Amino acid sequence: KSKMWLNRVMLLLVAAGMLGSSQPYNYSIEFEDYEIFSECRNQPDGVLGINGLADFTELTIDSQTQMDKLKISGNATLKWDIQQTDRVQIKLTLLKYYRQEWRPTIYEIFSPNFCSILFDENQYWYKSWGQYITNIKDVKDKCINVPGTKFIHKPFSWDLSIVSAVPNMDGEHKILIELSAFGHLNIKRPTSICYEMKVNIVKM
Ligand SMILES: *[C@@H]1O[C@H](CO)[C@@H](O)[C@H](O)[C@H]1NC(C)=O
Ligand SMILES: *[C@@H]1O[C@H](CO)[C@@H](O)[C@H](O)[C@H]1NC(C)=O
Repeated sequence: KSKMWLNRVMLLLVAAGMLGSSQPYNYSIEFEDYEIFSECRNQPDGVLGINGLADFTELTIDSQTQMDKLKISGNATLKWDIQQTDRVQIKLTLLKYYRQEWRPTIYEIFSPNFCSILFDENQYWYKSWGQYITNIKDVKDKCINVPGTKFIHKPFSWDLSIVSAVPNMDGEHKILIELSAFGHLNIKRPTSICYEMKVNIVKM
């Protein structure tokens, strides 16, 4: 159950940032099935799935009370074994399934130094996640780098509708999420995180 919740959380994080704009096309996101989250295929050793990143058993989502909104609350506890001083890079890529192939779209978020912006009030990551963390003072210096660190959230909700300038973005999509960490001299850590989520985007 928590796995599905997580998927939705991450998906919404992505959707809120990637697709938000003040353009005229409105879409909503649908989850194709229970198993939205999947492992990245054909990865080398050292590439972990979402369960390598954190323990989400204390995170809950209530999607029942309101249409097009998800209510989220609870905690996530880090598991990824990297160092506090590492630079963490995050890349989110939206791919569209078209003619039997996953093809890139114009939507991608690349944050080469995620921890430098997570708590920056002007940035996407803060607006979609950081601002809802209640124990910021405990996690601020650790970011997602120190195993055992617990992110405690105040209850919040995400909107499932999205607005985009792209006129024909409905259809089957997936979001690929990749995290890497770099230590001293910019040397990449032996483990990284990769997972993906399948979603259906529907024009409203
Ligand atoms: C999209 O939604 C906004 C409100 O969120 C509305 O003002 C606008 O008219 C909608 N646009 C279309 C094309 O439906
Ligand atoms: C979240 O963590 C806090 C502090 O450890 C704890 O009091 C609370 O019960 C946890 N929430 C859930 C849903 O487990």
